[in-house]
Amino acid sequence: MKEIKIGILGLGTVGTGVTKILYDNGPLIMSRLGAKLTLKKAADIDLQRDRGIKFDDGILTADPLEVVNDPKIDIVLEMIGGEAIAKDLILKAIDNGKHIVTANKALLASQGNMLFKTAAEKGVSIAFEPSVGGCMPIIKTIRESLVGNSIASISGILNGTCNYILSKITNEGVSFEDALSEAQAKGFAEADPTLDIEGFDTAHKLAILSSIAYGTEINLNEIYVEGISNITATDIEFADQCGYRIKLLAITKFTGNAIDARVHPTMIPFSNPLSNVNGSLNAVTISGDAVGDMMLYGHGAGMMPTASAAISDTIDIARDLIYGTHTRVPMLSFQMEQIEKIPTQPIEEISTHYYVRFSAIDQPGVLSKISGILGDHQISIKSVHQTEQKLNGAVPIFMLTHQAKEAEIQKALSKISSLDIITDTPSLIRIEGTN
Ligand code: HSE
Repeated sequence: MKEIKIGILGLGTVGTGVTKILYDNGPLIMSRLGAKLTLKKAADIDLQRDRGIKFDDGILTADPLEVVNDPKIDIVLEMIGGEAIAKDLILKAIDNGKHIVTANKALLASQGNMLFKTAAEKGVSIAFEPSVGGCMPIIKTIRESLVGNSIASISGILNGTCNYILSKITNEGVSFEDALSEAQAKGFAEADPTLDIEGFDTAHKLAILSSIAYGTEINLNEIYVEGISNITATDIEFADQCGYRIKLLAITKFTGNAIDARVHPTMIPFSNPLSNVNGSLNAVTISGDAVGDMMLYGHGAGMMPTASAAISDTIDIARDLIYGTHTRVPMLSFQMEQIEKIPTQPIEEISTHYYVRFSAIDQPGVLSKISGILGDHQISIKSVHQTEQKLNGAVPIFMLTHQAKEAEIQKALSKISSLDIITDTPSLIRIEGTN
């Protein structure tokens, strides 16, 4: 029976999960693959830690070059994370003719164009299902299942940490700080949780999805990114009263000549299934011209779900190797020579509905001053609500608008902020999925 040999770089959460699946489900995988998938070497700086696995003799090494330079290894699984070391090892492995599986969304978002080009020139594959959405087969779905569809849009919850925090505040009244600490303790958060809460991790994943959906180069720098650190329990409570949940959404839409790609807290109506995705779970809605709307839902982080996606990629490459082919399915869903740089639509050009919260002195004429400026910018108010509760002498005023232009709402908010009746920076949350 043919044997495909793999090497793992990094025995952290995902690398350990991959090893567990290989050892626990080896016979099952063999019966599906028709070949033996063998772990030949696994490198990590910490070889003493008990991972609950009995490694076969000679597998563990502290030297990653023993993995990437091993002539018997066909596929290298990069599970280190971070950018510099991982990139150098991937390039070395590619140079040695090895195929790559990686969970490294940050690296692909920043260096993916170069890495995929280098792999294509060398005739090897880079597979990256575990980099987006954990166990959800989002890459395979776009690249294979929806290959006949023109994709209109993708919207999703792609960061378990942010979804956990927002769900805990919404459903249990837990503070932001406590919810973040819990997410860190459960192991969802990045080593630097700023990447999660400021939306950058979601943007890394969105840059990858936009590329495979639309055949554009990976273009992280033009994606508008806003995280959840300014969302307050007051906003969440008001949204709830109006029939909305606040979620950190990744959105990408093709406008005909540009890609509207953005990450920001978004109010979505209870009727939208994404509003019911709670805890650390992820979900994505994809709109295709043939399929209509479809959804994927599952664990977007964690040892075994992410390892499951890494094994799926490894077996796809192993199948190519068994049949003497490679990149039968193009890495980025489009043929490399078809990939172009499609411009990203600036956030100022979008039009949507908005929630705004002002903090204002409670005196006659306040509402008319605010609504006058909004009117000057063609922003039509759908509903307005003021509470009696005073904070430092000011009252919160909540407004929902009809569809308006982002550039106009930004100009209006800037003018309103400078009024002497306004005591704090206004909050703005975009609303999607409403009419
Ligand atoms: N920090 C990420 C999350 C891990 O919270 O979703 C999975 O990419």
